[in-house]
Amino acid sequence: MATFLPILLPILLLSLATASHSSTLNSFVYGGCSQLKYASDDVAYTSNLNSLLTSLVNSATYMSYNHFAIAGTAPHDVVYGLYQCRGDLSMPDCATCVATSVSRLGALCPGSCGGVLQLQGCYVKYDNDTFIGVEDKTVVNKKCGQSTGYQDKIANRDAVLDGVVASGGGIFRAGGSKDVAVIAQCVGDLDGGECQDCLKESVEQVKMNCGTSGNGDMYLGKCYVRYTIGGGRGYFNSNGNYNNNGSDKNRGVKNFALVIGLLAAIVIVIIFLTFLCRAFAGSSK
Ligand SMILES: *[C@@H]1O[C@H](CO)[C@@H](O)[C@H](O)[C@H]1NC(C)=O
Ligand SMILES: *[C@@H]1O[C@H](CO)[C@@H](O)[C@H](O)[C@H]1NC(C)=O
Repeated sequence: MATFLPILLPILLLSLATASHSSTLNSFVYGGCSQLKYASDDVAYTSNLNSLLTSLVNSATYMSYNHFAIAGTAPHDVVYGLYQCRGDLSMPDCATCVATSVSRLGALCPGSCGGVLQLQGCYVKYDNDTFIGVEDKTVVNKKCGQSTGYQDKIANRDAVLDGVVASGGGIFRAGGSKDVAVIAQCVGDLDGGECQDCLKESVEQVKMNCGTSGNGDMYLGKCYVRYTIGGGRGYFNSNGNYNNNGSDKNRGVKNFALVIGLLAAIVIVIIFLTFLCRAFAGSSK
């Protein structure tokens, strides 16, 4: 935990600074930690994990998905990690979301070999066991809203869900018709066929579990589907705009300088930590 702290502080400040408008994107969906813990004196794993988390945060300033593997001297010191931002986020919003997620993971999973956190705008996972490129259709989180009494609305929902998933296409899909809006997202390590397969399963699960609900979220291990009926176009986005256009981007750019500045601070802290670790390892010999 102590080793996380210097990284956490700037990120926490960053989260506070941007919380006012990104609160929806950065809000918690689900999270968990691996049962396995690493030894508190495992300097190699701690330092690999820190550099992995830094890589994730840095990469999220310019890519909406990336994965890394940081190798250690011992096989169990390897750490794998990835993040996936929701496909309609601007880069600044993606960066803020991943930074927020990494800081919360530090608090959520101190000492754990692995952790996973899904916020509304992004997904982050790391572990010392490889999971990258592995399809995972386990239901990890689901939420169904109140029932809507209108059978025709449910028929329209099913049609939109099927349409969004049948359309093929990329790892992020969105569609709507009448008052139904649907978004679907895969984690970027899946190939086209796996993503399609995962989304199909997610659609089946959400129909089955949420029946006539006015809104439903179905998160599987590596993909999710969300729908709303009559929630308006703003349901999925932070600023009430389903299309991530104009105002949202401008607002994001204002915070971009802040994000970059804080990232620089984080990198300096990491370098300092690595230096401390080396000095410590040296003196204990
Ligand atoms: C992960 O780390 C733990 C603790 O060091 C170790 O017991 C476990 O075998 C490691 N897992 C893998 C896949 O290396
Ligand atoms: C942004 O979206 C809103 C609502 O959908 C729309 O009214 C507006 O014209 C869009 N602006 C641009 C620049 O596309």
